Amino acid sequence: MDLRVELDAKSARDRTGLALAIAFAFACLFAGPSHAAGDAAKGKDVFLRQCSTCHSADEGGENKFGPNLFGVFGRKAGMAPGFAYSAGFKATATWVWTEDKLSDWVTFPGGMVAGTPMGLFQGVSPRNRADIIAYLATLKHTEDAGQSSVGTAQ
Ligand code: HEC
Repeated sequence: MDLRVELDAKSARDRTGLALAIAFAFACLFAGPSHAAGDAAKGKDVFLRQCSTCHSADEGGENKFGPNLFGVFGRKAGMAPGFAYSAGFKATATWVWTEDKLSDWVTFPGGMVAGTPMGLFQGVSPRNRADIIAYLATLKHTEDAGQSSVGTAQ
């Protein structure tokens, strides 16, 4: 892990970045092997900080600047009831939201749909990607919603 590089780059700019990098170092130390598979609880925290301004996650939740995301994992793109998707999204986003697709989307939405309004979002950091997707995968009807751990290491 090239934490030093990250520390150097961030501390040059801001102390918040440094604090986050240190917090991440501790998270790595204690997360153990399950980290790679994505931790839905951590993903929820990331969601609240980085996505909830634009997205609700509860069933039947309101569409905000972005569509409600309940049930989005494994569903065809562009299916949130009542949300007016951008023209580019409607024309381009014909895929189903798999783990890979979501990973690309939350990292760089503008790379998948040119001109999408979600392009305002700077994208999640690679280290939060698996967690956020594990969280999105819990937004559905199952007995174990909230505990499911979706990831690459299954
Ligand atoms: C600046 C507001 C904004 C932020 C922040 C944002 N999004 Fe979005 N998101 C949107 C908009 C707007 C769309 C609809 C895109 C379109 O119509 O082109 C969208 C679409 C989506 C979709 C596709 C939904 C569907 O029904 O197919 C997913 C999945 C998604 N966002 C996940 C996320 C996640 C996860 C985060 C946080 C890591 C996030 N978004 C952060 C605005 C945002």
